[in-house]
Formats: sequence, C-alpha cells, structure tokens
Amino acid sequence: MEYKPSPDAEEVDRWKEVTLVYNSALKEIGTKLEILNDEFQHVHKYNPIEHIKLRLKSSESIVKKLKNRGLESTIENMVEYVNDIAGVRVICSFTSDIYRIAEMIAEQDDLTVLAVKDYFKSPKPSGYKSYHMLVQVPVFLSNRVVEVKVEIQIRTVAMDFWASLEHKIYYKYEGDAPEHIQKALIQCASMVSDLDQEMLALNEEIQKLLDEE
Ligand code: GTP
Ligand code: MG
Repeated sequence: MEYKPSPDAEEVDRWKEVTLVYNSALKEIGTKLEILNDEFQHVHKYNPIEHIKLRLKSSESIVKKLKNRGLESTIENMVEYVNDIAGVRVICSFTSDIYRIAEMIAEQDDLTVLAVKDYFKSPKPSGYKSYHMLVQVPVFLSNRVVEVKVEIQIRTVAMDFWASLEHKIYYKYEGDAPEHIQKALIQCASMVSDLDQEMLALNEEIQKLLDEE
C-alpha cells in the first residue's frame, strides 16, 4: 500500500506523521546498507561503502520544490510529487563500487526500484556524476504497512567533494554563476573523473598482488 497521510487528523499531527514515516524509511535503508557492507567485508575482506549520509528534506525545501512546479503546498502533493523527502547518500571509494552497491540494493526482495538515473554513465552538463535510484521500502506501522519512497544517490568520495562545492556555488549564484567559475567547475569534474580512474587502476593492481600472496 502506497503511503497516504491519515486524512482526518489535524494538519500539525499529519505533518508529524509524515516526518515519522519518512524518517523510518530512512533508518531502514540505512540499516540495510550497513548490513550489506558488513557482509561484504566478511566475504570479500573489503568495504564497498566509505560512509552513508541520511537526510530528511526540510519543509521549506519541500514547499519551494512544489512551488517551482506550480503545485499547491499540501501534504498530499508532497507525498505524491516530491520524491526526495527521504534522501540517502552512499559514498564509496572506487567507481566500481557504485554498481556493486546499486546491484545489492536492487536485489533486496522487500525493496522496489521505481527509477534509476545513471549520471555516472551520462554526466549532467554541469559535470555532475552520480548514480541515482528511487526506491520504495515498506514501513511497518502499528495498524498498516506503507510503501515509502527514498532517493538514493551513490557516488565516490571525489565526486561527493565536487558535488558539495558545486551545490554551494549553484546556490550562491542561484544557478547563474560567472562563466569562469562554471568553466573551472567543469574542469574540476574532469579532474575528478581522471582521479577516480587512476585510483581504481591502482587499487586493482594492488589487489591483484595481494590476491597472489
Ligand atoms: P531535483 O528536482 O533537483 O530533485 O532534480 P530531478 O528530479 O531532475 O532529479 P535529479 O536526479 O536530476 O537530481 C536529484 C538530486 O541530485 C538533486 O536534488 C541533487 O542533490 C543532485 N544533483 C543533480 N544534479 C546535480 C548537479 O548538477 N550538481 C549537484 N551538486 N547536485 C546535483
Ligand atoms: Mg532533489
């Protein structure tokens, strides 16, 4: 059953319920990822996940997003149209980890993958690279089970470093940064890709040696 906020309660209580439900979904995905990471460490003696960041979108950001799309700020619209109320960022070391993690997530039986955007294979014009998954996870409430949407972004440490700065600059200039800054960011994105490639190659070389020992 897709999550629908309780229709009868007071607005403040409905908002509290939404927060609780999305927060629960976040915690579930966080735990699932930790379990996968631990098991991977156990089997392969290696952690694909560097760290995980969980965040709930602020009510201000949700309202802003709805407004930009010409939608009224109702709790129903938030739940239906804002897919990233619950957001998980998975930071890994190597680009090869990205698909490893995505695959492990997709294989979880109780989790449904609603959409995938592969900005690693097809970067945005900004230079942004990341692998996005929109998933649905069941949350068990006292009297019902609801399916809740969570946006998962998977990227390397280097990509995350780039994206944080780019995001900050994007906000500062409201999407209209001076040309030299935009150019520098695109250049940095290309350096990030080169770095990620070289680090992966180095790691593979070392790994081969270690496996031979
Ligand atoms: P949003 O309305 O921003 O959610 O975009 P969307 O619905 O088209 O989804 P998309 O997958 O493109 O982007 C979702 C999220 O990815 C954003 O909220 C950002 O966190 C991140 N993102 C996407 N593009 C960029 C980018 O060019 N730079 C940075 N720093 N982050 C980005
Ligand atoms: Mg977003």
